[in-house]
Amino acid sequence: MINGIRLLKISAIYLMAGGFLGLFMGISHDFILSPVHVHVSLLGWLTLAVAGLVYALIPACAASPLARVHFWGHNIGPPVMMASLSLYAYGIKQAEKLIAVSSVVVVFSILMFVINVCTNAHKHLDAMGSSEKGHRLLAEEIA
Ligand code: HEM
Ligand code: HEM
Repeated sequence: MINGIRLLKISAIYLMAGGFLGLFMGISHDFILSPVHVHVSLLGWLTLAVAGLVYALIPACAASPLARVHFWGHNIGPPVMMASLSLYAYGIKQAEKLIAVSSVVVVFSILMFVINVCTNAHKHLDAMGSSEKGHRLLAEEIA
């Protein structure tokens, strides 16, 4: 069972890191790390926070083994991707391979999240009676 609140807390750290980086870029007028800022903020903060909320609110998704794969991929991939992207941006072209590998890890983990949501999220909604099928089941139960 994946703890969604733990992901939410990790994502908040990305928000802070992205904010500091944005502030640094603004003050220094050095926008070379702009793609890093973008992905720390959007992949690290927004996407991870939404995933954390999904796991916190939908236990059927948090309990899936796919959630575990996504959890580790989305925690290990982005820091490596951000670090190698920063090195690449500052001219260390050997970092390119690491960007490629870490990007594949991140995209793969996101694919696991997508499959998990598409195959498991409705089970929870059914149980809650908040999907069409759930409403029907609930109506039958009441009748
Ligand atoms: C918290 C404080 C933040 C500061 C100080 C900040 C600062 C900046 C700066 C200086 C730039 C570069 C602008 C340029 O290239 O002219 C930028 C770009 C960007 N920021 Fe932030 N940012 C912050 C938070 C965020 C957050 C929370 C997100 C998304 C969730 C975000 C998304 C973006 C995006 C997508 C760009 C790229 C825009 C483009 O290339 O046109 N930023 N930010
Ligand atoms: C899953 C792994 C991801 C990979 C491998 C990836 C890769 C890339 C690449 C190669 C670029 C072009 C960078 C450049 O031209 O400097 C880019 C740009 C961008 N990506 Fe991603 N991305 C990922 C996830 C995301 C996610 C989840 C979001 C939003 C929620 C996002 C939002 C953006 C934005 C807004 C830009 C344009 C930034 C700009 O022009 O400054 N990316 N991404």
